[in-house]
Amino acid sequence: MSRLSVPMILVMPLLLLHCGGGSMEEAPEMEAPMAWPEIAGYELMAIPEDNPMTEAKVALGKQLYYDQRLSGDGNRSCYGCHLKEHGLTDGRAMALGAFDKQLTRAAPTMWNVGYYDTLYWDGRSTALEKQVLGAWGGGNMGASGADGVPSPDDICATLNEIPGYAEQFQAVFGGPATPDHVAYAIAAFMRTIVTTTENSRFIAFQNGDETALNDQEKNGWMIFSEKAKCTNCHDGRLLADKQFHNVGIGMDAESPDIGRAKVSENEEDTGAFKTPSLFDISKSGPYFHDGSVETLEEAVDLMLAGGKENEWLDETNLSDAKNADLSDEEKADLMAFLMALDVDYTIEEPMLP
Ligand code: HEC
Ligand code: HEC
Repeated sequence: MSRLSVPMILVMPLLLLHCGGGSMEEAPEMEAPMAWPEIAGYELMAIPEDNPMTEAKVALGKQLYYDQRLSGDGNRSCYGCHLKEHGLTDGRAMALGAFDKQLTRAAPTMWNVGYYDTLYWDGRSTALEKQVLGAWGGGNMGASGADGVPSPDDICATLNEIPGYAEQFQAVFGGPATPDHVAYAIAAFMRTIVTTTENSRFIAFQNGDETALNDQEKNGWMIFSEKAKCTNCHDGRLLADKQFHNVGIGMDAESPDIGRAKVSENEEDTGAFKTPSLFDISKSGPYFHDGSVETLEEAVDLMLAGGKENEWLDETNLSDAKNADLSDEEKADLMAFLMALDVDYTIEEPMLP
């Protein structure tokens, strides 16, 4: 099925609605459907029916994503913790939220977030729209509404006083900025952060371009996918299986972060975290959900050791890695493959109104 047909299906009900009568709010801006970036050869991104993609909405969401005025302390934007130079993470072991609040997990990359059905290391959020509201009012952006700090509603009141924003919200949503409208616009923008055949040599290779990887990188891919079977978890075009696994990180802490078990309330999920995507991995250290490993080589050695021993370790999926017994040359090839997962793109920071 062609990617183009999807936005059209989503736009149809709105068109019909709009023809119905004159008493409605001004209708959202109508645009010809356009092709959004996609992971070639992979399933289509599931776009919520109530938040169709439009160019104007994505452009608005991008501005909001880069705007520090959204945060409780006025000096953190979403982008501020998901930076290009750090592979769309923040370069810290654990993130530092608004008001310099020390958070307890590392910032994950934003590549392909639109393809996940659960978000965060423990998958506690099930939609980008909800995730934005969580990050905004929570520790990351700190718009708590407590102790004189603005809430998302207060911040929306400020946005509505900025003509350039007020006009865009009116055009896109047929109304003023509200926390939901902000979340919808940012979610739509995040759905465009995608690895494509243009920006990712791995995606090009997966889609048949044999020249996209050199011989060493191709050999690294064979080791990754067939010998060490990293693909038991880092699978498919996402390099992630959308599942949660215990590989033993942080389990030796005094009171370990139990990860997925807190959400699922299933003891077997103790210490399990969402398989991270490995795009831009050379830049996104420190590694793992707690940032406990400084270099990529150490992180890979840890996986090749079969993870870290603990009661809930996913030994089944890690056994091929543990038994791979790679030579120095094979290990170098595996590292070369991981380096080839760098994404090649330029960031164009939006002009803010
Ligand atoms: C202070 C740094 C910081 C800021 C600011 C921040 N984030 Fe994050 N982000 C994180 C951390 C840390 C996590 C992981 C939290 C967890 O898993 O518990 C995360 C996770 C995410 C995820 C989930 C990714 C995945 O693969 O599951 C998304 C999406 C995201 N952030 C988007 C945003 C948006 C949108 C904003 C602005 C509203 C934002 N972030 C602001 C640090 C930050
Ligand atoms: C059992 C499933 C599984 C297998 C097999 C596996 N991984 Fe992972 N990998 C994970 C999970 C889950 C994490 C995150 C763990 C955490 O932070 O607690 C992870 C984290 C990583 C990280 C750090 C990513 C980041 O963003 O911090 C790298 C690098 C990595 N794996 C590489 C590999 C390589 C190379 C192999 C094969 C030798 C491999 N993995 C095999 C599940 C797996």
